[in-house]
Amino acid sequence: MKSFHFTEITSTNDFAKELLNTLDSVIVTADYQTKGRGRNNKSWEGDFGKNVYFSLGINHKEEFPFEKIMLYQALGAIAVKNALNVITPKETYTLKYPNDVLAKAENIFKKISGVITEHSFIGQFCSQSVLGIGINISQTNFSEELKDKATSLSLLGYNIETKEVIEILTEEILKLLKYDYSDIMNLWKKTLNIENKIITLVENNERYFVERINSNGTLLTKNVETETEKIIDNGDSIRYEYE
Ligand code: BTN
Repeated sequence: MKSFHFTEITSTNDFAKELLNTLDSVIVTADYQTKGRGRNNKSWEGDFGKNVYFSLGINHKEEFPFEKIMLYQALGAIAVKNALNVITPKETYTLKYPNDVLAKAENIFKKISGVITEHSFIGQFCSQSVLGIGINISQTNFSEELKDKATSLSLLGYNIETKEVIEILTEEILKLLKYDYSDIMNLWKKTLNIENKIITLVENNERYFVERINSNGTLLTKNVETETEKIIDNGDSIRYEYE
């Protein structure tokens, strides 16, 4: 797979998407993004050279149905966790639905990485997917909003080059790309460990029991108070009660 590294770029996701006009698949990384994007229209910020800014773009050759688009998000989060486990085997990492990778920092789980996927569609089929991954490496100062919730490899006590993390992350992604959809989804379900747990939906502060993860990656939940069922998805933010 071709890969491109930039000193500065708007967003690795945007450039990966552009390169898909001429390539079947591509990896784009950068030292700095001027318009890094997070989920839910939030920006994704980070200092120059201190974090991994990574995107994988794929043109789907075979018909790729809408119901399967959670695959790349799941694959990305598992690949980050695997890569971090290889680099720092003594640390504990976990996944938080839908797209965060958390590291255990002094007994509290804090976000070390976020995954975002963006797709293009032709009719009901997905024609392109871009998987964007940010991993905090040597970032030590975070905004007021993030400072108690975010961590980095440096804050965990490791001095590791972003280049090394990109190499190992790429290896992990390439390994997982060979797996079937159901293998990835099962691995994701197991690692998320959210079924039969109670979560709080940030938007209304109500508590929900997670009955199951549906095959399309959404959560089937039941409101603890009203007992009404609700589907929680990728666009929702939740708090775990068992962190
Ligand atoms: C999130 O947790 O909200 C997802 C953050 C994803 C950030 C990465 S950094 C590389 C890629 N390019 C972007 O603009 N965003 C993703």
